[in-house]
Amino acid sequence: MQDLRHVCGLPVWLEDDQYTLGFGEGLLAPTPDVRRLEDLRPVLYNQTISEPEEIYYMYRSVSQRQERDALAARGLRFDLTVLPNRMLGQEFMKTAGHYHPRLPGSDLTYPELYQVLAGRAHFLLQKARGDGGILTDVVIVEADAGDYLLVPPGYGHITINPCDETLVLANWVDASFASLYQTMVKYRGGAFYEVKDNGQAVFVENERYQECPTPRMVKPGLPQIEGLKGDAIYQLSRDALGFLSDPAAYHQCLSKVLAEQDM
Ligand SMILES: [Fe+2]
Repeated sequence: MQDLRHVCGLPVWLEDDQYTLGFGEGLLAPTPDVRRLEDLRPVLYNQTISEPEEIYYMYRSVSQRQERDALAARGLRFDLTVLPNRMLGQEFMKTAGHYHPRLPGSDLTYPELYQVLAGRAHFLLQKARGDGGILTDVVIVEADAGDYLLVPPGYGHITINPCDETLVLANWVDASFASLYQTMVKYRGGAFYEVKDNGQAVFVENERYQECPTPRMVKPGLPQIEGLKGDAIYQLSRDALGFLSDPAAYHQCLSKVLAEQDM
């Protein structure tokens, strides 16, 4: 088993089967939601594949038992996601991809904060206008264990596991909204598919989008918000996570996250 306690801040580990999480004493350990091939098929590069049957595993609302009510009162949710290194035909393992809705009475959509706990991730972020077919920004962030990634307001996102290890992710997010999957389904995925071609990982543009800018490579990192610091995502200050439910108050910091990190 692979201990994730130090990077996560909770007694959590990856079992030897490489897809099940173990939870230590005092944790509320949910049964994972399994994303299956039939769920992902509409957004895959190869839509006719017949395996794997199970794609990835989402453990929603993980917490220390004694903190459950306090997190609910703050409207925060902590999730863990496991993406094993299973290929989806030529395509690397990925999440279905979604956008977030706008906050009530606001033009801003909810942000989300990730940390890679194990493995390596490619986060694909994209901003769209109109009905979603015109992309105005596409960003790829490569992140290793310990790295943080903010999905700022306005961006949809997909996470790809581009390597031969299991990828384990943690995220904090406002608990009140449901993600929006329809646009990614309509365009059969995000702006790019990451596929293996002659043994090499390459990004293949999804030509169903009417416009797609050249993707920008951006470094991972935490937004510059007072009090938001720490190596383990579960240990981050709950006050400093308030931006997840009130992004308007932090709009300047959040909008800088992707703009200032060009490599
Ligand atoms: Fe999300």
